[in-house]
Amino acid sequence: MWKGRFSQATADLVLQYGESVSYDWKLYRHDVAGSIAHARAQVRAGILTQEEFDAIEGGLKSILTDIEAGNFKWSIELEDVHMNIESELTRRIGAPGAKLHTARSRNDQVATDTRLYCRETLDETLMLLRDMQRALLVKIVEYAELRIPGYTHLQRAQPVTIGHHLLAYVEMFARDLDRLHDCRRRINISPLGSGAIAGSTINLDRVGIAEELGFDGVSENSMDAIADRDYIMETLFCLSLIGTHLSRMSEDLVLWSTAEFGFCTLSDAHTTGSSLMPQKKNPDVSEITRGKSGRLYGNLLAVMVAVKGLPLTYNRDLQEDKEPLFDSFETISLALRVNAEMVAAMRINEDACAAAVSDPLLLATDLADYLVRKGVPFRSAHDLVGQAVALAVTSKTPLSELSLEQYVAISDEYGADVHEVFNLDRAFELRTNPGAPNPDNTARRIAFWQDKLS
Ligand code: ARG
Repeated sequence: MWKGRFSQATADLVLQYGESVSYDWKLYRHDVAGSIAHARAQVRAGILTQEEFDAIEGGLKSILTDIEAGNFKWSIELEDVHMNIESELTRRIGAPGAKLHTARSRNDQVATDTRLYCRETLDETLMLLRDMQRALLVKIVEYAELRIPGYTHLQRAQPVTIGHHLLAYVEMFARDLDRLHDCRRRINISPLGSGAIAGSTINLDRVGIAEELGFDGVSENSMDAIADRDYIMETLFCLSLIGTHLSRMSEDLVLWSTAEFGFCTLSDAHTTGSSLMPQKKNPDVSEITRGKSGRLYGNLLAVMVAVKGLPLTYNRDLQEDKEPLFDSFETISLALRVNAEMVAAMRINEDACAAAVSDPLLLATDLADYLVRKGVPFRSAHDLVGQAVALAVTSKTPLSELSLEQYVAISDEYGADVHEVFNLDRAFELRTNPGAPNPDNTARRIAFWQDKLS
């Protein structure tokens, strides 16, 4: 397709090294859609007759059918998806096929196809994120008020609930949704008509083409449009962050499913055994998800490094953008689906949760707040509670079971009502500020998400 000035055939190794069709064939639907819109604009510009357009459209549709049926022979001699399809079109319909590439370059073609792919796959990811939120929400509703310790530094900190804990992930995935929506606005701009770098002397109706392809607008600078891969890096970042959130959730589930925590039991269908130790039931899905986050970051970094030193505009280095992009979308898609399914199938163990949350040390901060309410400055209150904790630890007595006399011996700010602090119901009721795990707050947030996800 570009052999005019060459007298030697391309070396076999160069064909192997340079081909992209082994992966960019995945753009075929977008390539065909882009070509049809481009051809229709050629009719409006008087470059093609209606008959020629009909032949092109019919030819492209028959190629589409063959690709979908697995009957299309991709050839690395034709390098990429664009030249494979165009060459086969001309083989099938003759002369009109050879007119299709007027006022177009593979540079604006690949940018268009990749944006269409990104937009479509991003929309699927949005749906999967919502499914993930829905799976969490089912557990959240079921265990809204089931209390567990909350952790900082992985040490018991303060009481929370399963509902509150899992709602944290719903909020994270909501930010991911928001970020993807925002990213989509910048993806959905048509570069078609930018040609190789500087547009074309044959002016096609760019706006009409963009509208036909569902773009929100057209790019304003042909050089930027050809060189721009920001939307790919942004997408890869958004997917990386989803991966981070899934990975943190995975770590929680790995911990929760241990004998030491025992807060949840993952279903047999979502765990694996050991070939040696018959008792084992391993949380492989969570571990793999944790591992996949590294792969997602790697994909982002690969593209950022490939792009950073490139002079404007197109350079063949940019061909390296596609495999990471495809891989990240495919990785996230499977990760979201399997994790949603696993969360839906997991059981929460109420007894283990209740036993863990009965640790009165979880209310040491509430005890300090109690002293504050009596007028003790917080720093002093912290110290007076610290002394009580030390006594509890050395005397092997639960903090809630130190006697009034023992408390008063530390400070006469402790009063006869000190033991009321250890009432968990009260501890949750007192936390009324927005964002805290108060039952009313949790119920409100559940109602909010139920409405949003219905
Ligand atoms: N396969 C190429 C890519 O993915 C398509 C664009 C090639 N353009 C060119 N001038 N060689 O980037």
